[in-house]
Amino acid sequence: MKRIMVTGALGQIGSELIATLRGRYGRDQVVGTDIRMPIGSDPRATGPFELLDVLDPNHLTRVMQIYDIGTIYHLAAILSAVGESQPNQAWRINVNGLYNVLEAARYYRCQVFFPSSIGVFGPTTPRDYTPQDTVQRPETMYGVTKLTGELLCDYYHRRFDIDTRGLRFPGLISYKTDPGGGTTDYAVEIFYAAVRHSRYTCYLRPDTSLDMMYMPDAIRAMIELMQADPARLRHRNAFNLAAMAFTPEQLAAAIRRRIADFEISYRVDPARQTIADSWPNCMDDSAARAEWGWRPEYDLERMVDDMLEHVAERADEPHDSTSRARRGS
Ligand code: NAD
Ligand code: SER
Repeated sequence: MKRIMVTGALGQIGSELIATLRGRYGRDQVVGTDIRMPIGSDPRATGPFELLDVLDPNHLTRVMQIYDIGTIYHLAAILSAVGESQPNQAWRINVNGLYNVLEAARYYRCQVFFPSSIGVFGPTTPRDYTPQDTVQRPETMYGVTKLTGELLCDYYHRRFDIDTRGLRFPGLISYKTDPGGGTTDYAVEIFYAAVRHSRYTCYLRPDTSLDMMYMPDAIRAMIELMQADPARLRHRNAFNLAAMAFTPEQLAAAIRRRIADFEISYRVDPARQTIADSWPNCMDDSAARAEWGWRPEYDLERMVDDMLEHVAERADEPHDSTSRARRGS
């Protein structure tokens, strides 16, 4: 069996994806790659791992040749909040990096997974139950790069018959690895702040509704889509994907039902609020349900129970509960 390669494997999604893929297909079948290396006893180091910049096409193809890669989960990217402060870098990594991956996939005839985002929509998109096929005029560089990625993946499928598949992820919530500088990071930070200090200052307005998803559902969705019968995939790239939509106020209320003295306050960051205001309140994911049987397992209540349990277990570990966007790293 040809091997699977994950780019950006040390990020919020990649860290959990490589563990799941290794559990399913075997430790040596999954090659993690990133511009950083896992260190010490990091569990992500328990399998093949290569230092790889997706902007270096020669190294990319060399790694793919050495490991006989047949499938690429291409996760390396810059997220929305960091992308707005570094638009040039966001274009380079998100678009040129994907182009290099698609060209390498064309050469080695690989299957490619591409993660798109709610960020591909803009203020002129219908906000409630945003349809699968609708207006896409994003106003962030992140959204522009993700929409370009959707179109590139469609093109490589149509023109070169590359098996590209993709999902429009909502904000992802997880406890194993910090989020990477997105607009939705508050939905992770709030849990650490609640467990440690019983209070949190949110950078979005209390009534800002956004789609969110718990990481186990996101990982399962990626693998299920990659295994789906291609004959049933009419959309192929960029399926809307939904599980729950909530506001900071509603998430805080759910936490307060479990931590009675939890308090939330608001100090709005205009940059991230503007981004969030241009994204849907909630997406219609009926195409994903119809074409490959998507069903989420975690709703708000189940996600909050699980997050609080695991974040409490990690309460003594050093953790900076402000996002990478706020820390500027
Ligand atoms: P992340 O920021 O946590 O991880 C990205 C990883 O890419 C990092 O480990 C980083 O070191 C690596 N990277 C950056 N530049 C690189 C380069 N030039 N070459 C190789 N690696 C590089 O991001 P994530 O949350 O894991 O997201 C993964 C993908 O999913 C991204 O494409 C993102 O746009 C998409 N996505 C994420 C979310 C979310 O909420 N996390 C939502 C929608 C879409
Ligand atoms: N969670 C991501 C972000 O906020 C959505 O793509 O950037």
